[in-house]
Amino acid sequence: MKKIKVGIIGAGSISHMHTTSYKKLDNVEVIAVCDIDEERAKAYAEQYNIPQVFTDHHEMLKLEELDAVSVTTWNNGHAPLSIDALKAGKHVLCEKPLAMNAKQAEEMVQVAKESGKLLMVGFVRRFGENTKILKEAIEQEQLGDVYYAKTGCIRRWGNPGGWFSDFERSGGGPVIDLGVHMIDLVRYLNGKPKAISVTASTFNKLGMKPEMKGIGKYYSADYSTHNDVEDGATALIKFDNGLTLFFETSWVMHVKQDELYLQLYGDKAGAQMEPTIEFYGEQNNYFTSTTPLVDPNTYGFESNFNREIAHFIDCLVNDTPCLNPAEDGLELMKILDAIYESAKTGREVLI
Ligand SMILES: NC(=O)c1ccc[n+]([C@@H]2O[C@H](COP(=O)([O-])OP(=O)(O)OC[C@H]3O[C@@H](n4cnc5c(N)ncnc54)[C@H](O)[C@@H]3O)[C@@H](O)[C@H]2O)c1
Repeated sequence: MKKIKVGIIGAGSISHMHTTSYKKLDNVEVIAVCDIDEERAKAYAEQYNIPQVFTDHHEMLKLEELDAVSVTTWNNGHAPLSIDALKAGKHVLCEKPLAMNAKQAEEMVQVAKESGKLLMVGFVRRFGENTKILKEAIEQEQLGDVYYAKTGCIRRWGNPGGWFSDFERSGGGPVIDLGVHMIDLVRYLNGKPKAISVTASTFNKLGMKPEMKGIGKYYSADYSTHNDVEDGATALIKFDNGLTLFFETSWVMHVKQDELYLQLYGDKAGAQMEPTIEFYGEQNNYFTSTTPLVDPNTYGFESNFNREIAHFIDCLVNDTPCLNPAEDGLELMKILDAIYESAKTGREVLI
């Protein structure tokens, strides 16, 4: 059996999910790792027994035997590194968001087309068991016409700092970090309609609040308190199939507790995907609420990554159509650009 040879560019937090998932596959070998932080790259190579270590991705991409790379760097690396990899003839799985903005994402899609290589975007939540259950229900028209959706990812105190809160490297705050997942899920579940208009506000009221005590949060690998991105946002997004989406997010907000929610409202039934999967329908002139039972072993972050990575490899080996094509990452960047534009101008933005 020919093994697919993979390299990791960016040996930070999330790359561990990629590498451990690749390692679970018999037909994959992780042969190289690259990070601008040499110590980190070396320690990573040792941890996972990866034979080749680089600090410059150009050098890594010269490896002829390398078939594919995961790009798991800061957001500002996604476009240039993916483009270099595609031009070097490698397939790419690029973490979300696909790029810093739609202009960069467009170029990535173009280069991928020209190279004939796969560019997949890491919308990992599409591989969730709850996503699968809800998508199946929608495809079987159990919800009917889904005309309204609400989704939010709210943190009371959750600015990770470091590159996340440095606009030059991230392209934005919770909108580009958390919003990208939630808005993508709503699009994906509903057959990928195109957004046609966005009215949004972003907030820069509370900053990062590094001085707070009492509760914990996720810290970026290279933590610093520089912060020049939004701390929260809200948006109303209309799609070309008639769907209206209300979205909100925050890294820091005076709210009772963190919240993650995704709700869809159809003319036959409604559904909630987060925080738990539930359906709201009608039977014998009674309103009903039902909760599918889901195996806890197949549920969660790690399982989603295992499935995402297995799918990426399946696309390369068996020509399976890619569930997360780069074009979907581009559509999301158009929406995120419109959120920031509407917040800046105070007006509705037509896409
Ligand atoms: N899919 C998800 O649910 C999910 C979750 C977390 C993070 N992410 C995404 O993954 C990416 C990385 O996030 P993280 O939390 O792992 O960050 P991190 O800071 O822990 O790791 C990023 C690593 O990239 C390295 N790096 C930066 N530029 C580089 C370059 N040009 N060449 C080589 N290495 C470079 C850094 O030195 C660092 O080690 C981000 O784009 C983030 O949005 C996705």
